[in-house]
Amino acid sequence: MTSLVAAEVPDADKRATMNLILLGSAASVTLGLAGPFLGFFVPKGSSGGGGAQAAKDQQGKDIRASEWVETHLPGDRSLTEGLKGDPTYLIVTKDKAIETFGVNAVCTHMQCVVPWENAENKFKCPCHGSQYDAQGKVIRGPAPLPLALAHADVSEDGIVQFSPW
Ligand code: FES
Repeated sequence: MTSLVAAEVPDADKRATMNLILLGSAASVTLGLAGPFLGFFVPKGSSGGGGAQAAKDQQGKDIRASEWVETHLPGDRSLTEGLKGDPTYLIVTKDKAIETFGVNAVCTHMQCVVPWENAENKFKCPCHGSQYDAQGKVIRGPAPLPLALAHADVSEDGIVQFSPW
């Protein structure tokens, strides 16, 4: 019976070869697309390092904590370059240490840079009047969200490091 079928389908071997080629092509395309697609769902921070980045001064140099607290008064909030290059306030505590968090200066309304008003002890956006308290919480709109925070730590070699909140 099988020999009769093989005799009736003379190109069975060619068909099997073509099916293998087609399957191989489809598999390579599918796997090639699946890799980047699945990679999209893997968090970037999972590769280690925690996304920490050195805080930079206005000259683009890494900020050394000991020098910073010597040249800035307690309560000072000065702009530095933070995560992803965002302007970020580095805060000096009352006892002349680096505060454990930095405040991203980008307004959550329409992305203006928000100045610190020392006399009023708050951040006031010049664009549409939003106000934030000393920790970046909204005290007056239209800002929909508080200013973003970043962890601020001092590395073993004394450099201020920002990392995602
Ligand atoms: S951009 Fe700050 S209030 Fe609109």
